[in-house]
Amino acid sequence: MIDRSSTSSGRPLAREQLTGLVAGVAACRELWTPHYDPHATRRTYAALHRDEAVDVWAIFWLPGDDTGWHDHDTSSGAVQVVEGALEEWVLRLAVPERPRRCRAGSWLSFAPSHIHRLTCAAPRATSIHAYSPPLWRLGQYTLAEDGALRRVSVSYADELRPLDPPRPRSH
Ligand SMILES: [Fe+2]
Repeated sequence: MIDRSSTSSGRPLAREQLTGLVAGVAACRELWTPHYDPHATRRTYAALHRDEAVDVWAIFWLPGDDTGWHDHDTSSGAVQVVEGALEEWVLRLAVPERPRRCRAGSWLSFAPSHIHRLTCAAPRATSIHAYSPPLWRLGQYTLAEDGALRRVSVSYADELRPLDPPRPRSH
């Protein structure tokens, strides 16, 4: 299904390889369109590939879908938006939030140190995600009432959702 020539070494992929991989999968619509459910009422996702070096997912978004703040533990990642638009929010402290709009055809990549949140910014959106090493654990973030930021370790099999109730935006 997915060309393993870049992953068969078993070594983690570089970010440039991950962006190439998600672009290649995005271009092969037959890999992910069968997983789209037009009747879904919330975000759905499909695992397209997993080996010792990388895992690849298709995610189908609807308005209101929000991953909440999270990191990818030891994995680097890349995301290619193929339909609609997403917004990426990068966790910044003491400065205004600056979401980045990622429309169809655009992509983003990140190192394991990256903490972000993705939200749907269109009537619907589709994105292809790749992570290397393959996701195993992720960190989700929650803000305690005393203002302390806490990290919660979750399995890659758990769907990411905001841990905190919505807060008024600062802008
Ligand atoms: Fe993420």
